Amino acid sequence: MTLTRPRKPRYTKPLSKGNDVPNIPSIWDELKPVPLGQCDMRFLSILEKCGFGRIQPVVPLQVRYSRGRRWTENEFQACFSAWQSEISLTLIAAALNRNPQDIIFRLLDYCDKLDIEFTERGRSEGSENWKPPVVECARELFEAGLPAWKIASLFKVDFEHVEKQLFIGRSDYGHRKKNPFGINTDHKHFVNARILAQRKIDVLDAFDAFAGEGKSTAIIEDVFPKARILAVESDQQTFEKSQRQVWNRSTVWVNQDNIPVMNSLVHEGRHFDLIDLDPFVTCHEQLRQVWRLLKSEAYLFVTFGGEYRRSFISSNRKAIVKRYGFNNNNLNNKDYLEIVPYFFLGWVAKLASNNCYTFTVFRAVRYANNCRFWLRMRKETPKAAKEWFSRNATPRYGGFQFETLHLPRFAEVRRELEEKSQTSLFQ
Ligand SMILES: C[S@@+](CC[C@H](N)C(=O)[O-])C[C@H]1O[C@@H](n2cnc3c(N)ncnc32)[C@H](O)[C@@H]1O
Repeated sequence: MTLTRPRKPRYTKPLSKGNDVPNIPSIWDELKPVPLGQCDMRFLSILEKCGFGRIQPVVPLQVRYSRGRRWTENEFQACFSAWQSEISLTLIAAALNRNPQDIIFRLLDYCDKLDIEFTERGRSEGSENWKPPVVECARELFEAGLPAWKIASLFKVDFEHVEKQLFIGRSDYGHRKKNPFGINTDHKHFVNARILAQRKIDVLDAFDAFAGEGKSTAIIEDVFPKARILAVESDQQTFEKSQRQVWNRSTVWVNQDNIPVMNSLVHEGRHFDLIDLDPFVTCHEQLRQVWRLLKSEAYLFVTFGGEYRRSFISSNRKAIVKRYGFNNNNLNNKDYLEIVPYFFLGWVAKLASNNCYTFTVFRAVRYANNCRFWLRMRKETPKAAKEWFSRNATPRYGGFQFETLHLPRFAEVRRELEEKSQTSLFQ
């Protein structure tokens, strides 16, 4: 297998010197409240209105996307010992006034260096306090721009529980939330364009099953202006945004869940030269159904979405087992994240082979929050498809590991975006 990965690029910036030694207590009661003057009045009035006016914030209640401050060595060492002492990550985050995801990445890196396993086990705040009046107040605070982890610290609820409830519960999850990974998305669009522009397959019919606001749909239109494109987007607001653009007459937009749409397409006998499955979280259901919609030669673009990025959380690992078979609890987080995309693609290969398809990988990229695969599918005899699968995938850990995959990290390919501004995309 070609796990051609250079030494892992660090998520984190180097530490600076400093004399401060922050105090991270082991219980909330020992955490000093911050002066109310450090809090945005909007959040204080929401708390008041919801009957939580007496809560004393332990972090300054300020809006999302404030500038990060540099870590110092002392601060990180205090953070690391608190983690070793099994203090909850929500409490550590509150004591340091830092986003817990940043803390986790930093701890992951450090544990990696020391060759010890990072875990969140035993460091959760639990969700006992997540009760209806809290939920209602939390939603208002979140909508007004207070980060989920600060809300978690106000109500002493596990920050991941709060994040999940507030982000994923939103019908427009992933849209209004500002996307810190926008640059990855730009690169995805760049590769979409570059691959289509090579015209290895003439695209007459395309199905953009997770169309969003239509950026990829627009790329397909640009490269193949005569294509008949079906773009499906389930979120109403996003769909409405997409409709502010002028689309070719041969492009049809549908504001619906793509699963029933796929079923209808099968009944209509439609087949596509290009199908793009680009979910925020997962497309495992769509992948099961996609085969009857592909022409005998077709592009299949697939994103291994949020389920990848968060697979170091144990409940997500269980979901991965259920969806893709891959099950290895002995792997530490670093190794798990490293190889799980190979098992995702192995599962796609298994489905492909069961449906008499083989594929070649045009490209694959490991982004910070997802992995993306650009595949060229080809219909084969059952025997040829089976043999192809045996050559390319190995049963392991309850799943199938795809062997012949070059999966560079975004950091290794991002220069392409800079080069793009100097050359034409469609050369
Ligand atoms: C990552 S975004 C798509 C971005 C788009 N492909 C692009 O390149 O700009 C995923 C989109 O899929 C939509 N979505 C999620 N589940 C869906 C479903 N079951 N059916 C249709 N759309 C869905 C989301 O609302 C979101 O807009």
